[in-house]
Formats: sequence, C-alpha cells, structure tokens
Amino acid sequence: MRSRYQCPRSGKTGQLPIKWITAAAIGVLVLVLVVAAAGCTSEAPEVALFYYNGEDPYIHTFVEQIKERAAGRLALTGYDARNSQTLQNEQIDGALADAPDLLIVNPVDRLGAYTIVNRARKEGVPVIFFNREPLSEDLELWSQTYYVGARAEQSARFQARLIIDLFGGDPAKLNAYDTDGDGAIQTIILKGEQGHQDAEIRTAEVLRAFETAQFELDILAIEVSNWDRSEAYNRMEELLEAFGEQVELIISNNDAMALGAISRMRQEGYFADTNGDGAIDAADERWIPVVGIDGLDEAVRQIEDGYLYGTVKNDSLRMAEAIVDLAEALLTGTDPAELTFPPEDGTYIWIDYQPFTLE
Ligand code: GAL
Repeated sequence: MRSRYQCPRSGKTGQLPIKWITAAAIGVLVLVLVVAAAGCTSEAPEVALFYYNGEDPYIHTFVEQIKERAAGRLALTGYDARNSQTLQNEQIDGALADAPDLLIVNPVDRLGAYTIVNRARKEGVPVIFFNREPLSEDLELWSQTYYVGARAEQSARFQARLIIDLFGGDPAKLNAYDTDGDGAIQTIILKGEQGHQDAEIRTAEVLRAFETAQFELDILAIEVSNWDRSEAYNRMEELLEAFGEQVELIISNNDAMALGAISRMRQEGYFADTNGDGAIDAADERWIPVVGIDGLDEAVRQIEDGYLYGTVKNDSLRMAEAIVDLAEALLTGTDPAELTFPPEDGTYIWIDYQPFTLE
C-alpha cells in the first residue's frame, strides 16, 4: 500500500537564545511524537467513493450506509456525480491524481465502466463497482475489479409473487381485486431508467413471471420515469386521465416512483378512508395495489399506513457491508474468499432481495 503521509520537517533555528532553542527542540520532539502516534505509520487506507446521484433516495441511504460501515476502517472521500458521467470522469481523474488506495464506483452510465477500469488499471488502483452493473467484458479487462449488487430477476419474481398471492393465487379465479371481473389484471408499469439493468430486467421478468404462472396481465402502459418520484407523479396525471377506473394494479420498478404515483392518486381521490373505519385499506373504494422495490424507509411507512401494498427490499445495508469488507480485505491482503459475502467467480458479490408487505 502506498503512503502519502509526509512527516513534518524541522525548520531553520537562526540566531536564537539557547533557552528558546531548547524549548523549540522539546516542542518539535513532542510534535513529532504526537504525529507518529496519530498515524504517521498507522494511517487508514484512502478510498474514493463515487456515486451517480446523491438525490436518488435509495443511493443516498446506500452511501450513508457505506460511510457508517467504513468509519474507523477506511478514510473515505465521497463524490456525487449529479447524474453526469462527464463530471464523474473528471472526479475520478482528480482523485486518481492523489493516488488513492482503492475506488468504489457507482457509475452514472454503466458503459462508462470501460474507461474507469482502464484508468484505474493504469494506476494500479483496484475498483469495486456497485448498484449499476458494468458489462461483464469491462469487468474482465482487469482482475482487480469487482461488482457488488443484487439479481434483478429475483426482485421481479418476488414482486410478481406478492401480486399473485394478493389476487388469490388462482389464475382461473381472480378475487375481488379484479374489479371488472374480466379475468385479466389491468396494469400500469412504471419503469426506471432505460438501459439500466434493473429497469430492463425487472420489467421483462415481472411480465415473464405472470406468464409462467398463467396470470393474464392487460398492460395499459409502460411509462419510463427514471427512478424518479416527481416524474412518476407527473406521468400519473396523464395515465389516470387516460385509463382512470380501469386501472387495477401498478407495478413500479422502484419505491420512489411508486410513492410519486400514490401522491398523485391521493390527489385524485384514491386511497381515502371512504368507509370511515379510520384506516386506509382495500376495504375502501378506489384502493388499488401499488407495488415497489427497494424498501425505502418511507415506503415501509406507507405500507404500514395502507397506501403502498408492498415492496421488495433491495438490501443496501448488506451490500454496504460487503463493499467495505471487500475493500478492507483487498487492502490488507486478506483472501476475499474468506469474507461473509465472498465474490463468486472472483468478481461478483450478489446480495438477496427480500419481499415485504404487512403480512
Ligand atoms: C436501483 C434502485 C433504484 C435506483 C437505481 C439507481 O437498484 O432500485 O431505486 O436507485 O438502483 O441506480
């Protein structure tokens, strides 16, 4: 591991009285001892953490969890790319100039990983990517690259399972959630960012899961809302105008968009306590199931309050543990295969999703 720490040097003394020189010498000695004890020799490794957008609530929490896990173990510096790959490339170049020991990167554009791996390889600085999965051929460019994430297929299957159970579990006999009783579920899908592995795979796989279970979904619309709460809120206005009472289900690629949809729906009179029993639930008129993914704190609160039906926990706490533990192992020469979450095939650490509803 390289060390960037410069121990202070003593300066010139000039023509000074003896007692001043003695006092100064003692001072310098004390300073040198303090500096040595404070880390001249035991400095925490310097790690630069890059993330695509600190305004994304899932990523915001994820970054906090990485910082908490790293406290006292890694000297972390965070860089928010504010959704610009150009800015992130500049941030990475700037950080590499200071010779960090390791990079942790949530790329803005997963295709941007190619350049990042090549830059890091040139400097000999290992890279752990997370959440936005680089192409496998880019990770294969260098042995010192890793990816920590979750399998998007799994989240879609859990989402489909929550919905299938809610609708009674039998495709030939949907229960009262099929409000028009036509045997098909009229559905709106809110999709994340185009080209993001989670948006593409969650959307395709949730449809496949219903098909496999022989449940008929009648897709009214698939709306891209870029993971974003306010985009989903705005789109929902047009969608409700176009499809209104037909809508029986909203499947969202993440919680933020699900919460945006719910806000708009509440404004339009959905999710009100129409039977006056003091609770918001399926017994009220115009309550329709909305299902997200991530397990944001606010999503959990809205599940408890009866607005959101369910979510699938995208376990950033465990991923943060896996990232920091892997970083430390790489920097101390510990074999990553011995970690709680060891890399598969030497590169990938996969963390399981978990379904979450009130039940
Ligand atoms: C997904 C997450 C989204 C969004 C995205 C950003 O895994 O479900 O809410 O944060 O990552 O890359």
